[in-house]
This record gives sequence, structure tokens and C-alpha cells, in this order.
Amino acid sequence: MQTVHRIAELRALLAGRRQAGERIALAPTMGNLHRGHLQLVEVAKTLADCSVASIFVNPMQFGPKDDFNSYPRTLEADSRQLAAVGLDLLFAPPVAEVYPQGMDNTTRVEVPELSHILCGASRPVHFAGVATVVSKLFNMVQPDVALFGEKDWQQLLVIHRLTADLNFPVEVVGVPTVREADGLAMSSRNGYLSAAERTLAPTLYATLQTAAARLQAGERDYAAIQRDACAALEQAGFRPDYFEIRRADDLAPPEERDTELRILAAAWLGKARLIDNCPVKAPAPV
Ligand code: PAF
Repeated sequence: MQTVHRIAELRALLAGRRQAGERIALAPTMGNLHRGHLQLVEVAKTLADCSVASIFVNPMQFGPKDDFNSYPRTLEADSRQLAAVGLDLLFAPPVAEVYPQGMDNTTRVEVPELSHILCGASRPVHFAGVATVVSKLFNMVQPDVALFGEKDWQQLLVIHRLTADLNFPVEVVGVPTVREADGLAMSSRNGYLSAAERTLAPTLYATLQTAAARLQAGERDYAAIQRDACAALEQAGFRPDYFEIRRADDLAPPEERDTELRILAAAWLGKARLIDNCPVKAPAPV
């Protein structure tokens, strides 16, 4: 595995691979890797000849009250894990390489419809930061295919949308969420949980599954299902941010006739803001 920190080095290496006719896959990450990230690399290797991962804790996607300063930075351990799964190229730029003019004066990418609902309602700058850095990474790496985890379903839709709107010639692929044995979605922020909170944390996924089962059984009172889920989370010690049943492909509130749904939730448990989601194929109304 080669590691580069500068855009010019990255471009020089990738130009050679592209000239040799190789297909390039990109797995963007913020590091502090877990099995979910390594799965992105595993999938990347099946879809391309040259697998690239980026590690960049992107300041633009953190609000003033978010955890940018404390976000775990573990480049050495991450590099060892990426080498062990057979990654070809790691790109780990410093902040000044990505935002040479500083963040305030840089061009931004906004995906209006999807960015200010759900997670965007409580994290107003988040998705513009994600959309901007992903657009920049697409231009730096120029991948044929890029992999993103489905745990961040709203992020995945934002990235699909910006890719279409800005005509990036990149195939965006969602990779299913990797879970711990008890159902908790893998996340770098799970590290913020105390031992007691860690035992409670799988309740988030269990609550999503309970709601999914009600929808699959034909219930259509979305508000009641959402209310019950928030109550169950509060009962278990969470502070729910939202628990919403939405249309899977555009996150609009569903009509009764919609069958391709996604349930999305965010809830605080101690210092950790956990997010998760699950797909539901609801029966067509009779
Ligand atoms: O999902 C993440 O880790 C980040 O939001 C991403 C896509 C790497 C952009 O910084």
C-alpha cells in the first residue's frame, strides 16, 4: 500500500494507473476505521483494479458545537488495517491541502432539498460540508466508482444527488451497514459510549426493527409508530433527535400508497449521537 498526503502526488500515481487501463475505486472516510469502513475497501476491490481510500477529518462538515476537535485521529492504526485488507493507495491530506484558502472563502456545494431535514435540521452546516469535500475528492481522485456506507442513508442520497446534478462521471455505490453481533451499527462514535451505555445502544436498532415489523404488518399510522418509537427510546435512556418513516429514495414523508420506505433515527446516548436506519418494503394497500 502506498500513502500520499499531497494532491499532486495522488494525481501522478493515479495517472499511471489510469494510463495502464485500470479502473479506480474510492472509499472516502474520516479514519478511526472499523469493520464498516474495511467493508467499503473490500467492495472497492471487487469493483475496480485500483482501490483508493481517503482519510480526512473534514472540518467543514462539523458545526461549532460538534466534535471536530475530539474526533478520534488514529492514522497509524488505520494504515495498518488498510494495508492488511489489501488497499492499493491511501490519501491522507492535511487540512491546508484541501482548503488552501481557508474554509470560509472556499466554494461550497449545496444540495438544497435533502440537506436541511432529519440530520440536517439539527446539523445545519453538515451536508454542505459533506457535499463540498466529496465533490473535491471526486475531482482529486477522479474515481470510476465510489463507495459509501448505508448507515448514513441521508448522506448517501445527498451524494447520489450531487453526482447527478454536477455530472460527475462516477458510479456511487451504497454498501450495507455492518453491525456488531447485538445489532449496533458500527460507527466511530460508538467509542464515546460508556460500558453501561454500550449495553443500551442496540435498542436503537431494535426500535427500528419494531417499527419496520408494524409497517410490514400493514399499519399505516406513521405518526403513531414514530411516537411509540420515541417513547421506547426515551424509556431506554436515549434522547431522541428524530425517528422518521420516509420514502426511501427522496426522504419525502410517505403517502399511504408508498411501499419503498426507510426508517431513519438519530438519538443521543450520553455524549454519543447515534444514527441508524433500516429499509422497509411495506405491503401495497388493498
Ligand atoms: O461518512 C463519512 O465518513 C464522511 O461524511 C465522508 C463521506 C468521508 C465525507 O467527509
